[in-house]
Amino acid sequence: DALPTPPQTLVPPPPSILSQDELKKIAAFRAVDFVESGMVVGLGTGSTARHAVDRIGHLLRQGKLRDVVGIPTSRVTHDQALSLGIPLSDLDSHPVVDLAIDGADEVDPSLNLVKGRGGSLLREKMVEGACKKFVVIVDESKLVDYIGGSGLAMPVEVIKFCWKYTAEQLRSLFDYAGCRAKLRMSVGKEEEEEPFVTDNGNYVVDLYFERDIGDSWAASDAILRLAGVVEHGMFLGMASTVIVAGELGVRMINR
Ligand code: 5RP
Repeated sequence: DALPTPPQTLVPPPPSILSQDELKKIAAFRAVDFVESGMVVGLGTGSTARHAVDRIGHLLRQGKLRDVVGIPTSRVTHDQALSLGIPLSDLDSHPVVDLAIDGADEVDPSLNLVKGRGGSLLREKMVEGACKKFVVIVDESKLVDYIGGSGLAMPVEVIKFCWKYTAEQLRSLFDYAGCRAKLRMSVGKEEEEEPFVTDNGNYVVDLYFERDIGDSWAASDAILRLAGVVEHGMFLGMASTVIVAGELGVRMINR
């Protein structure tokens, strides 16, 4: 007898059980397990870091954590932490940070990051550069094969003065990678687009690459040599641990 013909219609994959935000929350809560009473903690910025800050506030209120001092990486995080009653300070008073927790836009296989799509890259880099342990929290969508590999923006904070000139210099640095440079805009009160201004009063130029930029350390050096550049969103060699939340569970990748 002839074997039955297999069904021709493809079976759709099961619907995702957890939303992206739920995955972000799982990674964030896992990271907060690293926080101990008495620590100075760098508080990141973005929708993932927000969950970690909420959790720290919750544990402080419950008395499960005590004497934690938070160092916020943006005005938004400052305001959130303040509303949760987390005692706050800054790098001037606490130049050594025990632990920082923050999200990322891209994580490559060497744990190099792209950050700053939320526009807080400069303060994030200062605080996370001052910490003994930097825990990065992401959902699986942030994992890339190489820096710039998501096709999304790699942000560069620039001074306002002659920003077009700086943007063109940035673009031409990466001509070989099919780079486009675009001033970041935000929607103002009148619903009209106006340039996005960082907490430090600067603009952000977003770089988009068609191809791999190659050596990201060399790219970092080249960007920082441009006088109009304040900082860029590549966080190279900074992450100690990356916590990745996915449908199949949470993975912890250590440097
Ligand atoms: C803000 C950042 C954020 O950490 C990054 O953009 C990730 O954001 P989210 O957690 O919302 O995906 O670097 O400057």
